[in-house]
Amino acid sequence: MYQPENHPRLGVCYYPEHWPEDTWEDDAARMKALGLSTVRIAEFAWAKMEPEPGVFTWGWLDRAVETLGQAGLKVVLCTPTPTPPKWLTDAYPSTLRHSEDGLPEKHGSRRHCSVASKTYREQSRRITLALADRYGHNPHVIGWQTDNEYSCHDSTLSYGPEDRQAFQLWLGKVYGDINALNAQWGTVFWSMTYRSFDEVELPNRLTADAAPAHWLDFRRFFSDMTAEFNREQCDILRAGSREDMFVTHNFMVAEMGFDHWDVSSDLDFASWDSYPLGFLEKFGNRMSIGGDAVIDRYMRIGHPDIVALHHDLYRDMSRTGRLWVMEQQPGPVNWANWNPAPVDGAVRFWTLEAVAHGAEVVSYFRWRQAQWAQETYHTGLNRPDGTPDRASLEIETLRDDLPKLTFGDVNDASGGDTSNTVGLYFDWDAAFTFEALKQGADQNAFATMFGWYHFLRRMGLNVEFISPSQMSVLPAYIIPAAPVLDADMVDFIRETGAPAIFCSRSGSRDGTLNWLPQPMVCEDGVAVDPLMEDLFLDRTETLRPTQKIGVDLDGAAVQASAWVEHLRVMGMIEPGSNEPPVEVIAQFTPGPFEPSGLDAAIVRQGNIHYLGFEPDYEGMKAIMEPIFDAAMIAADELPEDVRIRRSDGRLYVMNFGETAYDAAVLGLRGDAIIGEGTTVQPYTVSVFAD
Ligand code: GAL
Repeated sequence: MYQPENHPRLGVCYYPEHWPEDTWEDDAARMKALGLSTVRIAEFAWAKMEPEPGVFTWGWLDRAVETLGQAGLKVVLCTPTPTPPKWLTDAYPSTLRHSEDGLPEKHGSRRHCSVASKTYREQSRRITLALADRYGHNPHVIGWQTDNEYSCHDSTLSYGPEDRQAFQLWLGKVYGDINALNAQWGTVFWSMTYRSFDEVELPNRLTADAAPAHWLDFRRFFSDMTAEFNREQCDILRAGSREDMFVTHNFMVAEMGFDHWDVSSDLDFASWDSYPLGFLEKFGNRMSIGGDAVIDRYMRIGHPDIVALHHDLYRDMSRTGRLWVMEQQPGPVNWANWNPAPVDGAVRFWTLEAVAHGAEVVSYFRWRQAQWAQETYHTGLNRPDGTPDRASLEIETLRDDLPKLTFGDVNDASGGDTSNTVGLYFDWDAAFTFEALKQGADQNAFATMFGWYHFLRRMGLNVEFISPSQMSVLPAYIIPAAPVLDADMVDFIRETGAPAIFCSRSGSRDGTLNWLPQPMVCEDGVAVDPLMEDLFLDRTETLRPTQKIGVDLDGAAVQASAWVEHLRVMGMIEPGSNEPPVEVIAQFTPGPFEPSGLDAAIVRQGNIHYLGFEPDYEGMKAIMEPIFDAAMIAADELPEDVRIRRSDGRLYVMNFGETAYDAAVLGLRGDAIIGEGTTVQPYTVSVFAD
């Protein structure tokens, strides 16, 4: 399988169909001269490949692949399924995505299709097979990208007749018997009772909320449909291709449409699309990252943790430690509320940041800025007239640097040393569950996880993402929000003996959202054992961001906010049992928002800790410092604008701020491989031997 031989490479996204054929050869030669190795093409070209039903026009694509290949470039070819042609949607209107009001969307942009429509699925298999037949043994093609950005434009959920049919079939398989569904959804609650699966509705156009389990199943259903859709393409592509060709997909930022662990389990590795400035606007307004002041502070370089988090998440999701950035922002984009230009040097910075987190290929979006249609304000490596834009100049500066960053034996981005790596849990099912079962306005599993990621990275630690399907032995674990707790995952963590922090609402529900009196672990969605025999939830509440309860942690004043749980330790462990006792580590203190006080706020049994609240940054520090010390994890708080990453025997120091940073304070173990002396200049990345 294609893997860059020994150091990270660069690539680009290219649209030969947008430009006159007589410019392709020159484009390809210039790509090569710029030091690019890979070119991704054709993800939106269905109408060009098949202009009439069953009539394929491969000539242009054959010539494009050949021209790129002859220039010494490797091609990543995409299935064009995000853009069904007009003839297709006219002939099969049932393939269209239906918005929440139940109306079909129209032709005229992209992603106007539903992964649950069996007709669209048939069409997708057909074009995928045709592509695999044509290019599965082409020597210039090294791999495939399935579709493009599943869920882009919030397009996963669809409310059409074929979606309803498929949902009913799926429910039939999950529950077998309609009475089982009625029982699990609690339909008796408001006379929602169904007599057969074909009566079940999609949860749209309802007067009040759907039953939470109904909504959760709807989310799980579309997640499964996305995974199935992707799997069908992977199977067809693999069956029709050379063995050394890979299959990947380009994931997005903070995208909650489907379970990415599940989809990536069918890929050779995950890739993703990184737009640091666009995300800052979009993400910063959806998740609390500190408000406008933080957005302003990083407006030209991006947030120190948003992009990094996704590099880590998708690298770990690859299970092989492999990561590609399939689309990398090259300059201002067009799609956020506001689209500032990056500071000079940012494109170089983002490339090195990706490499620090394990990227083996960084591929810029796009070769040349479009001269018409939806994205004319989106820059590329070249302007529409073909002259190089600023990003090209920055990429040139990487030519001598990237060969210095050779891969180790294992490109697992930790270089095999996990002594300062903390396992951080994130699972899409948790996000779906909080969406289904809200107790407050700002319950958001991704945002809660982000708060912990930010804390761990400020402490100078590497982060490895874990989920029930992907566990590793690490010196500590944080489970920020896991309402349905997987028993095997908890057993795994218990056996490591490493400190593990489970945060509020963890283990609070079974797989169909039944309320549990105490945190429990589940097997196949059925609650089987308490997380701690003695621990009970006396009461759960949610608080506005301005309402905080004090927590007395060895004299340190910690603030509890958001999802508070008043914990009770009941003394249920049988006398003489081998289980260690449940210790109360901290209690809530009486105050304006906590009249009684004295309920337990943090408890511990063996290596398992449970927090009955969502701590803020200072709270995380107070809670975690003794735990890091005991686990011999070298955590040291970095300045707000600086992040480090240890990887493959190197220390990457990234300065996201406007003042220089002297990395000597880090106790450097080696000289600068990239950068001058020990000073890391504003908006630059230095790399040291570690
Ligand atoms: C990505 C998408 C590309 C292009 C790009 C613009 O999300 O995959 O096709 O639209 O955004 O930044």
